Amino acid sequence: MEELEKLVREKLSVADAGHDWWHAVRVRDNALKIAGTEGGNLKVIETAALVHDLVDEKLFDTEKARKELKAFLQESGLSPEDVSHVINIISYMSFSKELDGAGFDSLEFRIVQDADRLDAIGAIGIARTFSYGAHKGRPFYDPEIPFEEVTTKQDYRNRETPTINHFYEKLLLLKDMMKTPTGRKLAEERHLFMEQFLAQFFKEWNGE
Ligand code: NI
Repeated sequence: MEELEKLVREKLSVADAGHDWWHAVRVRDNALKIAGTEGGNLKVIETAALVHDLVDEKLFDTEKARKELKAFLQESGLSPEDVSHVINIISYMSFSKELDGAGFDSLEFRIVQDADRLDAIGAIGIARTFSYGAHKGRPFYDPEIPFEEVTTKQDYRNRETPTINHFYEKLLLLKDMMKTPTGRKLAEERHLFMEQFLAQFFKEWNGE
C-alpha cells in the first residue's frame, strides 16, 4: 500500500487541484466509509479508489496508463482476479462512460464510483468545479449561455460552457445516480448545500 501511495502521489503531481493526491485520499476515505455499511472486498475498494484517476483520459494516455498500472498491481501481490477487478472498476466509473451506456458492475464498483461522485458534490465539489473551470480558463458564469441537457459523451466532452452551467449539466444529477443506499444517503446533505449555494449565487447576481 505504501508503494502504491507513492505511485499515486507521483502520477497525480501533474494533475489539476481537483484531481490531485488529496482527491484520491478523499475518495479512498469516502469509499471505506461506504464499505463500512455496504461491505465488499476492502483491498479491491481501497486500491481502486486510490488509483481511479490514473487512467483518466483528461490527464493521461489511457491505454498506456492502464498497462503500466496493471503491471504495477500484479507485482504488488494482488491476485490476478483482484487486479482485473480493480482495472474494470476504474475503466468504467466515469460520468461520460455512463452516458455512453458502457457497463461493468460489482458491489465494489458501485462503492468506489459513489465515493468519487461524493467528492464531486457539496462544498468540495463546488471548490473543485470552480478550480477546474479556472484551470480551463472558463468564465464562471455567463447569463447569455443557457444550461443544456447533456445526453451523449461526445456532447459532454465538447462543452465549453461556464462553470455554473456544469452544476445543472452534471453535478445536480449525481445524487440520483448514486448506486449504494449509503452513498445516496451521504449525497443528500451535499446536494442540498449545492442548491443553497446556487440559490444564493443567483440572488446576489440578480441584485436581490
Ligand atoms: Ni476522481
